[in-house]
Amino acid sequence: MVAIHSYSAITLLTVAAFVGGGVAQSSCEPSIPPRPSPTAYPYHPAKNHEVSPPRTKTCYVQAFGNGQDDSQTIFSALKACNNGGTVALLDAQYTIARPLDLTFLNAVDLVIAGEVSFTPDIAFWTANSLKYSYQTSALFWQIGGTDVNIYGGGTINGNGQVYWDALITNSSVVRPHLMGIMGLQGGTISNLNLKNPPNWFHFVANSSDVLFDSMKMTAISNDTHPAANSDGWDLYRSDSIVVQNSYIYNDDDCVSFKPNSTNIVVQHLVCVGSHGISVGSLGQYAGEVDIAENLYIYNISMTNATDGARIKILPGVAPGSNATGVGGGSGYVRNVTYNGMHDVNDAYAIELNQCYESSTTLCAKYPSSILIEDILFQDFTGTASTKYAPIVGTLVCSSTAVCQNIVAENINITTPTGVTAEWTCTNVDKSTLAINCV
Ligand SMILES: *[C@@H]1O[C@H](CO)[C@@H](O)[C@H](O)[C@H]1NC(C)=O
Ligand SMILES: *[C@@H]1O[C@H](CO)[C@@H](O)[C@H](O)[C@H]1NC(C)=O
Ligand SMILES: *[C@@H]1O[C@H](CO)[C@@H](O)[C@H](O)[C@H]1NC(C)=O
Ligand SMILES: *[C@@H]1O[C@H](CO)[C@@H](O)[C@H](O)[C@H]1NC(C)=O
Ligand SMILES: *[C@@H]1O[C@H](CO)[C@@H](O)[C@H](O)[C@H]1NC(C)=O
Ligand SMILES: *[C@@H]1O[C@H](CO)[C@@H](O)[C@H](O)[C@H]1NC(C)=O
Ligand SMILES: *[C@@H]1O[C@H](CO)[C@@H](O)[C@H](O)[C@H]1NC(C)=O
Ligand SMILES: *[C@@H]1O[C@H](CO)[C@@H](O)[C@H](O)[C@H]1NC(C)=O
Ligand SMILES: *[C@@H]1O[C@H](CO)[C@@H](O)[C@H](O)[C@H]1NC(C)=O
Repeated sequence: MVAIHSYSAITLLTVAAFVGGGVAQSSCEPSIPPRPSPTAYPYHPAKNHEVSPPRTKTCYVQAFGNGQDDSQTIFSALKACNNGGTVALLDAQYTIARPLDLTFLNAVDLVIAGEVSFTPDIAFWTANSLKYSYQTSALFWQIGGTDVNIYGGGTINGNGQVYWDALITNSSVVRPHLMGIMGLQGGTISNLNLKNPPNWFHFVANSSDVLFDSMKMTAISNDTHPAANSDGWDLYRSDSIVVQNSYIYNDDDCVSFKPNSTNIVVQHLVCVGSHGISVGSLGQYAGEVDIAENLYIYNISMTNATDGARIKILPGVAPGSNATGVGGGSGYVRNVTYNGMHDVNDAYAIELNQCYESSTTLCAKYPSSILIEDILFQDFTGTASTKYAPIVGTLVCSSTAVCQNIVAENINITTPTGVTAEWTCTNVDKSTLAINCV
């Protein structure tokens, strides 16, 4: 196939404002890494994702260099090559110093071969990042629209260190998430390195039919102030999402299914240091309906984590209680399978907690309005850490009435010392749990 490169619209953009940088045809056309064609495998959501047609024009973005802001050039290139083109960032270093609202994208590929770095300017991003009320989220950029592929083997660097350092003295410092995937219908994000997010790596909201593949994500502090809240993927109001074949080194959830995550497949991940693959928290807000349904989690390697498989749900609240954000929400967690997890040095291999952030007494009195049903934990191997030994996992429901058909089979989690592993099982039908409940 011969790609047709169209530069007519682009030349107009190489105006004086872009001296040193710009969007242009390169004198000798650099080669663009080919678009990978990842497909969901071996599991896929009921509705398989469509494959993008080939792109027919290319916009090369030349970096200004020396830490100068490339955001306007990248924006202009995406405008020029939107609707059927490829935007190529092939230079070694790009800097983004202003927020980018890229929710207009349609049928476009963004190739990142070098490094895209967000300026470590807390004051600027505090004032200018894109804000969402859900979990008081802030974003450097947001990517949305239809049929978007992002790939190229390069790196996206959030320069999180300065934010983690600032957090020590100010717990409310605004920390943007690294990748805002906002209202993206159809697309792939693959073959990229993500580094040091100030907050989460990915916030995926209002999106559907998006596949994440072959991502390498690391949040590593270079001083005594640890990385903070470096969740791998937080899925919210999103359907038919696949996350696969990736490595995540972080200190919070590896993947988190927030309210209204449906038809999700997570497979072949290596997670190190995390808080596990987590449903929730759900039920935080009275009056809200939270749903997590049809989640399939397959073949996960989980090392040095607080949890392997995790479901955290808040219970009800006492009538007349005026506290907000501490439970009382309704909804359900339904049809969730964890099939195949290898645990190494994790505090709990499984933690199902329907009394999250509550005392057991209050939780028993005011059971959760979020029904948990049809949950399968299957084929777990490995060893827990010494943290709660000989307890290697815990399943605590607020009442059997709101915790139905919880199944654990072929679970072989050992203790570090070799003494018999024990499990905490509260308000849950033990007859379907092939574990040593004590
Ligand atoms: C902490 O950061 C917040 C958000 O930027 C700001 O409003 C507040 O003034 C800061 N507090 C201190 C003590 O610097
Ligand atoms: C998702 O869509 C809703 C409805 O259009 C909007 O209110 C919300 O701001 C969007 N994004 C997030 C993160 O909630
Ligand atoms: C740690 O990271 C910060 C921010 O990127 C940088 O300024 C500093 O030089 C680094 N320190 C070391 C010891 O690498
Ligand atoms: C599980 O995932 C790992 C990659 O994390 C892969 O190497 C391995 O082949 C997978 N196992 C199965 C049974 O698919
Ligand atoms: C989640 O879906 C339920 C049912 O459709 C709806 O009532 C609720 O408002 C949704 N929540 C969010 C945060 O979109
Ligand atoms: C449960 O979820 C799986 C995918 O995770 C799906 O294939 C299956 O159809 C769902 N079952 C029901 C009853 O919806
Ligand atoms: C897990 O933690 C142990 C103890 O701190 C460490 O030796 C090991 O290298 C860690 N594993 C990984 C994969 O980082
Ligand atoms: C909320 O409850 C506390 C104690 O239960 C009470 O002191 C406070 O006045 C209440 N606030 C409102 C706004 O009702
Ligand atoms: C459980 O795993 C241990 C190794 O971690 C192995 O020695 C043991 O045979 C396994 N037990 C079963 C019943 O498979």
